[in-house]
Amino acid sequence: MRTTVGIIGAGPAGLLLARLLHNAGIDSVVLESRGRAYVEQRQRAGILEQGTVDVLRAAGAAGRMDREGLRHDGIELRYAKKRHRVDFPALTGGRSVMVYAQTEVCKDLIALQLKEGGLLLFEAEALAVEGADTGSPSVRFRHEGREDVLECDYVVGCDGFWGVARQAVPAELTRVFERTYPFGWLGILADVPPSHEELVYARHDRGFALLSMRSPSVSRLYLQVPEGTDAEEWGDEEIWAELERRFETEDGWRLERGPITQKSVTPMRSYVHEPMRHGRLFLAGDAAHIVPPTGAKGLNLAVGDVVTFARALTHQKETGSAELLDSYSETCLRRVWQAERFSYDMTTLLHRAPGATPFEDRLQLARLERIASSRAAETDLAEGYTGFPLH
Ligand code: FAD
Ligand code: DHB
Repeated sequence: MRTTVGIIGAGPAGLLLARLLHNAGIDSVVLESRGRAYVEQRQRAGILEQGTVDVLRAAGAAGRMDREGLRHDGIELRYAKKRHRVDFPALTGGRSVMVYAQTEVCKDLIALQLKEGGLLLFEAEALAVEGADTGSPSVRFRHEGREDVLECDYVVGCDGFWGVARQAVPAELTRVFERTYPFGWLGILADVPPSHEELVYARHDRGFALLSMRSPSVSRLYLQVPEGTDAEEWGDEEIWAELERRFETEDGWRLERGPITQKSVTPMRSYVHEPMRHGRLFLAGDAAHIVPPTGAKGLNLAVGDVVTFARALTHQKETGSAELLDSYSETCLRRVWQAERFSYDMTTLLHRAPGATPFEDRLQLARLERIASSRAAETDLAEGYTGFPLH
């Protein structure tokens, strides 16, 4: 089999890339190791930055998002039983974010790809990228019990943190920057209308909590839990009681309860693989970098990477110049490190590390007070949350 761009992985990065290339008249094949239902149901991100929303619209993939997504103009910070709202448009010259789940973005892009785009193979597992530093790289993969080879001009590894593409970059050319956190997030989905119209990020001595949503009738909530926690250790009653404690305010705000339909624990890490390109192999999204979820940046970074790649390849096709392909890694990494910094700052601002000292607790509260009382500090948060420029 032969194509111009071989894409490994049908998460948001791979699917959007296939769409962008299709729109630019460049053919591609997507190989996805899992089945369609699994990809469409994996609960993950919920927040799209303004830039991501703009990209989806320009790609002709925003019809349902514009009907069903919820535009949010702010978030609430909660600490010491107090609440402070950060008003995004007022602080950023009109920017906002969209609550529209990753599952829905993937469903929309899969439907478009199957209808109009190139080949998208489910249950096709990439085994290795070969010849990355030659003029004709290829992907060896297994589909329907048989091994096959996809010959390409370019390969883009959009295969997430556990994928195989990254392994094709020689170790001696690679630098990895990494940090793990001694806590994770227990996430639940509950059939109950969200108790607040905007997201609530809560700092509490017992740990962080986040109120988010999937729709006007479905809530998404997260609790900081110790690293290695098994979701089944937490009973439903215990989860609601803990959420109530961490969201408590002095003005009597109430958290509505409802049936919990899903429960899982996500570990937290920061990770950057440099460079993001080796020869004709390009890494995009979680295959190249991970952020802790507190800043809602992972999916949005993946979008930035594939937009950068699609633009670079289009430029090459139109002008014959490889300059944008050559600067791909550098261009992406500038934005990646801003998102790493923002996600780290949000994480350390709001989580309580095991063994945190009273001094550190006071510093967190002082940082939150600073955001609540200084327009400059608040603007910095609003700019970071609504997103850094795509290029
Ligand atoms: P993935 O979504 O991981 O997709 C990779 C795909 O490659 C998968 O479908 C996988 O099956 C496939 N694959 C893997 N190996 C192979 C192989 N060998 N062959 C073929 N296919 C392969 N981000 C945000 O922006 N906002 C948020 O609010 C947010 N919240 C989050 C909350 C949670 C609980 C979690 C876990 C993550 C959150 N993220 C958030 C991060 C976001 O979900 C990821 O950054 C995003 O999924 C990255 O997309 P991707 O396409 O790069 O990778
Ligand atoms: C969601 C996830 C996040 O990581 C975040 O910062 C905000 C919202 C969510 O899943 O809704």
